[in-house]
Amino acid sequence: MRHIVVLSGAGMSAESGISTFRDNGGLWDKYDISEVATPEAWARQPELVLEFYNMRRAALAEVEPNSGHLALTQLEEHFDVSIITQNVDDLHERAGSRNILHLHGELTKVRSTKNEDHIQDIGYQNLKLGDKCPDGGQLRPHIVWFGEEVPKLMEAAQITRTADILLIIGTSMQVYPASQLIYEASPNCEVYYIDPDPAPVYGISNLKVIKEKAGIGVPALVHNLMSKNQ
Ligand code: APR
Repeated sequence: MRHIVVLSGAGMSAESGISTFRDNGGLWDKYDISEVATPEAWARQPELVLEFYNMRRAALAEVEPNSGHLALTQLEEHFDVSIITQNVDDLHERAGSRNILHLHGELTKVRSTKNEDHIQDIGYQNLKLGDKCPDGGQLRPHIVWFGEEVPKLMEAAQITRTADILLIIGTSMQVYPASQLIYEASPNCEVYYIDPDPAPVYGISNLKVIKEKAGIGVPALVHNLMSKNQ
């Protein structure tokens, strides 16, 4: 079976009603990254950080996967599919995709500040100061904050290197190191970039840019890939 690797960003979930970060009116228009999404913010004002993620977690409970998420699950009938997502939502999971790597963490999970391997699933519940892990550490969002290492980067690069087809969906390609994964693909990998306002991409020979929203572009591409693969 040929291997399809998907690299998704916030645009993948936009049509589900989850705002992106850098579009007009996006999350970083409303919140200052340094106030809510850095280790320094956590040290200085943990309640504000917890409130930021509690708000996003509660909002996630109210939305559903869109036709783009659902189309990706159909690919699994004919291809070996690996999803690498920059998103912290659980919409790929809820759509039915099975093989998912979250580069930037997961909104529905929290972890101990004493031991980062002590991870718990809290679903869409709030987390507050005083909520402790059994190891005694205060629980924090299981999110990669700006300035923190991306622990799964090497694993994501290895997966991308084995792609026969790479789908890049809904990302501004502005955040390092995720934005560099495209260059891990082999020279004969077919690369498709689906985004209504795609960022310029250089140095990729086999690239097809599809200027479409995910909800339209992904089902159409999945249909093409599956009919070509019959
Ligand atoms: N369908 C597909 N793409 C869309 C849609 C849509 N309906 N709407 C917007 N987009 C595209 C935008 O054109 C843009 O290219 O989604 C992209 C969103 O870019 P960002 O907001 O920068 O999101 P992303 O690239 O995922 O950000 C990467 O930055 O803030 C950090 O950790 C955060 O994972 C995030 C990372």
